[in-house]
Amino acid sequence: MSVQIHKFPFENPFPEILQNVFSHFYNYSGSLDDLHELLTTELLSNEEKEYHKQLHGWRKDRDSVFVRKFHEYVDKHTSFNEAYYKFLRTTILPLFPNETKIVIQKTPNIRFSVPDNAAIGIDPNDPENIIGLHCDRDFGHHPTEQNFIVPITKMFESNSLYYEPSIDSGIDPLNFESLSLNTNEFVQAYFNKLRHCNRINKTNKTRISFDIRIIPYSEYEKNIEDFKGTKFELGKYYIVL
Ligand SMILES: [Fe+2]
Repeated sequence: MSVQIHKFPFENPFPEILQNVFSHFYNYSGSLDDLHELLTTELLSNEEKEYHKQLHGWRKDRDSVFVRKFHEYVDKHTSFNEAYYKFLRTTILPLFPNETKIVIQKTPNIRFSVPDNAAIGIDPNDPENIIGLHCDRDFGHHPTEQNFIVPITKMFESNSLYYEPSIDSGIDPLNFESLSLNTNEFVQAYFNKLRHCNRINKTNKTRISFDIRIIPYSEYEKNIEDFKGTKFELGKYYIVL
């Protein structure tokens, strides 16, 4: 199993929560995939707009005002964590039938890919249309880790990410497939070893999604020494569910 698409057994609760985030801070009632329209208003400072208006190198997520507002909201309201843990318990945990527990990321990473930009950093040496090509292992992520991507808006064409279908496929990244996901679906993928990248979003729709990293508990226990002193140590980046 390298990349597998699953269906939500209940309505994806996250779009409504994200709608609440932006309604709370900006009185925004438009469609989430038009969120980039906030970049043309006076509601954001020029500095806040700048991050989403031009491609940039690897920077901290929280340099994005959208990411920051999401975390600010999560810190103050319980609705997100309630929905997140419910989703993990009812929907993700059963995907590991041999596990009684999973080690999960405390708060998932959230990504915003706005038109004419990319959700991840660009290296000046990146060829056109291959932005930030990597597999998570390159960044020190443990090989027992699995990735889940949950869309908040529809993911399609260049607003989504591009990936190789199998490990060491040797496929030219220009021929990678774009991950197509409706909001009633989510994907399980082994991006630890599968190369993936972004392109400049040439759709006119913003993509918002979560990345969640999961480690089966039995694997975690076997490799516990590997996680000591890293951000992956229990209680820091991850918690047991
Ligand atoms: Fe990645």
